[in-house]
Amino acid sequence: MKYGHFDDLNKEYVITNPQTPFPWINYLGNEDFFGLVSNTAGGYAFYKDAKFRRLTRYRYNNVPMDNGGRYFYIKDEDTIWSPGWKPVKTPLDKYECRHGLSYSKIMGAKNGIKAESTFFIPLKTWAEVHHVKLTNEGKQPKKLKFFSFMEWCLWNAEDDQNNLQRNLNTGEVEIEGSTIYHKTEYKERRNHYAFYSVNTPINGFDTDRESFVGLYNELSEPQAVLNGKPGNSEAHGWSPIASHYIEVELQPGESKDLIFVLGYVENPEEEKWESKGIINKKPALAIQEKFNTLEKVEAALADLKTYWEDLLSIINIESKDDKLNRMVNIWNQYQCMVTFNMSRSASFFEVGIGRGMGFRDSNQDLIGFVHQIPERARERIIDIASTQFPDGGCYHQYQPLTKRGNDAVGGGFNDDPLWLILGVVSYIKETGDFSILDEMVPFDNDESLAKTLFDHLTVSFNHVVNNLGPNGLPLIGRADWNDCLNLNCFSTNPNESFQTTENNTEGSKAESVMIAGLFVVYGTDYVELCNRIGKNKEANRALLEVNRMTDAVKANGWDGEWFLRAYDYYGKKVGSKDNEEGKIFIESQGWCTMAGIGSEDGLCEKALDSVKEHLDCDYGIVLNNPPFSKYVLEYGEISTYPAGYKENAGIFCHNNPWIMIGETRLGRGERAWEYYQKISPAYLEEISDLHRTEPYVYAQMIAGKDAYLPGEAKNSWLSGTAAWNFYAVTQYILGIRPEYEGLKIDPCLPSSIQEYVFVRKFRGATYKIKIVNGEKGKGVKSLIVNSESVKGDVIPLQKVDVEHQVEVELF
Ligand code: BGC
Ligand code: NOJ
Repeated sequence: MKYGHFDDLNKEYVITNPQTPFPWINYLGNEDFFGLVSNTAGGYAFYKDAKFRRLTRYRYNNVPMDNGGRYFYIKDEDTIWSPGWKPVKTPLDKYECRHGLSYSKIMGAKNGIKAESTFFIPLKTWAEVHHVKLTNEGKQPKKLKFFSFMEWCLWNAEDDQNNLQRNLNTGEVEIEGSTIYHKTEYKERRNHYAFYSVNTPINGFDTDRESFVGLYNELSEPQAVLNGKPGNSEAHGWSPIASHYIEVELQPGESKDLIFVLGYVENPEEEKWESKGIINKKPALAIQEKFNTLEKVEAALADLKTYWEDLLSIINIESKDDKLNRMVNIWNQYQCMVTFNMSRSASFFEVGIGRGMGFRDSNQDLIGFVHQIPERARERIIDIASTQFPDGGCYHQYQPLTKRGNDAVGGGFNDDPLWLILGVVSYIKETGDFSILDEMVPFDNDESLAKTLFDHLTVSFNHVVNNLGPNGLPLIGRADWNDCLNLNCFSTNPNESFQTTENNTEGSKAESVMIAGLFVVYGTDYVELCNRIGKNKEANRALLEVNRMTDAVKANGWDGEWFLRAYDYYGKKVGSKDNEEGKIFIESQGWCTMAGIGSEDGLCEKALDSVKEHLDCDYGIVLNNPPFSKYVLEYGEISTYPAGYKENAGIFCHNNPWIMIGETRLGRGERAWEYYQKISPAYLEEISDLHRTEPYVYAQMIAGKDAYLPGEAKNSWLSGTAAWNFYAVTQYILGIRPEYEGLKIDPCLPSSIQEYVFVRKFRGATYKIKIVNGEKGKGVKSLIVNSESVKGDVIPLQKVDVEHQVEVELF
């Protein structure tokens, strides 16, 4: 069942039924100031950090869910309704929510009145614009009572929820003209305040929640709206809100535009006040002035559209498959940018309070957005590398505001260092900017310890070499990519986190076959990089280590039909036919086949056939099989989840592309494509009622075959899934891959894709590449660049600022 449809021309998903199986959300903002908005106008706004600078209040895990946001109430005689259906939930005559690129338009109509609300954050602006157009589509004149409503958060979102003995006393506001200013704590240590304005005179207001809502009322029936009269309340403590009251008269056919601005201001210390106790409102008025007419708002929205057109013009495909086109051209790229902006902080599953930026997560996210914003990718790489330790290990997370490593989580996740090689190599291949390697980058944020970025890659590589276990495989430490395979943890205390509890790595024999595969892949990249910059001696040394690792996997990491997953604390096999549960895991099959380990002896083929046989199901590839049915002390969190969920045999959409890429290495395009379609959201639109999360973005996890309800997804938006699927489909299935010296053409296609045109802007030139499939779906038969035949499968760099015509025939 569907709840809407894609509008590809406008790059929107159009929701036509407000009762989606879960709130379907969108993100506003591209830099510094952000908002989350659901299809019923729920959500919140924040400046830079969803914990420390949250402007509006949002209660997670609420009943009913998704309650609170940027709400409007319309009282038309005795009928009260909201354009977004919620919170009032009066059945609407018309409803439509269009989630577009960094904006959302929610339209509702009732009894001849249409209300169209457009929410967006103009470029380079610390404010949301809420443009509401009210139109009388009926035959009678109308007198409406219009109320806006949102709750202020007292800045620190965590404290806001738990320190009530203080917070119920601190709230302060000012009301001037049509603007409500939220200035809690401004008189002491804050230099910032927020405001909510409207571009028309108001007939009243409320700033105190209880006066507006009523102590025993719900948001669906605020007392002031029921009464048709605001309280003109001024908040002193308790819960400050912002509600404007506007009387609107509309003749038949007439429209009125209300433009609300929800903004954030920082004042320098000496300019904080206008007069005693009265805040300096100049910067706020300047923001309001920028968006106080329809023309200005429309121009700002048009700028935002142009911004996105430019970003999305870098990679674009035209094929006969609409679903593929919309994922590659629009939604998958959009999700990658959102993960760049949010990391894992704020979604409807991540509450914006915990999780800093992950070392491994941030490096992997990079492969999804480096083509769009290379300069910001560069900056991100330096930030990440600055949190590395001199021995190559790393803080597992860092804090976005301070950019410092997070002591509470610490380090010891032994896959972390290798992802830096992925990040840096991807950046250089995209941009050709080798100078990044010479940047001086601190260790542990200590400038006195700074070394070149290249040196950081060397210690990353060496960290694995220096931490090998009894089988010559990498020691796993706290965990590798799978945060829940905690082989050194032995936790019996339900009050501790598996990621940060005591670490029994000392004396442990726990080794990871996944890290071994990862090392062969990125170690090989490191060797190539060394050769390119003339460090041949280092390249030779590194190559010996890579080869040694390959041999170790062949000798000790192969289980007969697939790759083992690990060795546990005691040196016993994990992910082997000899195990009772968890006999086979996805991660090592993905990484060892991407590395091509044992391909000459058919190991990769066998491993991926085993994946098909044991892990594949209707909804994707599960993480492990059979799932764990009981808690295994020496395995940790993985065995805590019920079967089929999350890391215990859920379909982790992040790692499915590893198998897709592995399949393309073997030239098995049909299988790679089948796996791609199984989890790609646009292909799941028809089963939205089962899938539940948005059909336009990936979720981290879909319940696996052993789950209570296979196919049901959770944790949409913020996941490495976005970047990896984009990387797999564009670079390995459609096969257009940036390399140091040009664009490599290496598609691996199913027979259902006969031809397509892939437009790629790369290092200043545009390549229009027409691919025609052949019998095999793999291997370049002919490559013609600007009418000239080119040998091999790499388009050499061409003249910049020009479009080049490329024709490719595959075998
Ligand atoms: C989740 C993982 C996550 C980890 C660290 C676990 O509970 O299952 O997906 O990486 O927490 O936050
Ligand atoms: C989510 C985390 O963000 C990521 O770092 C981890 O690799 C996966 N979960 C798998 O556990």
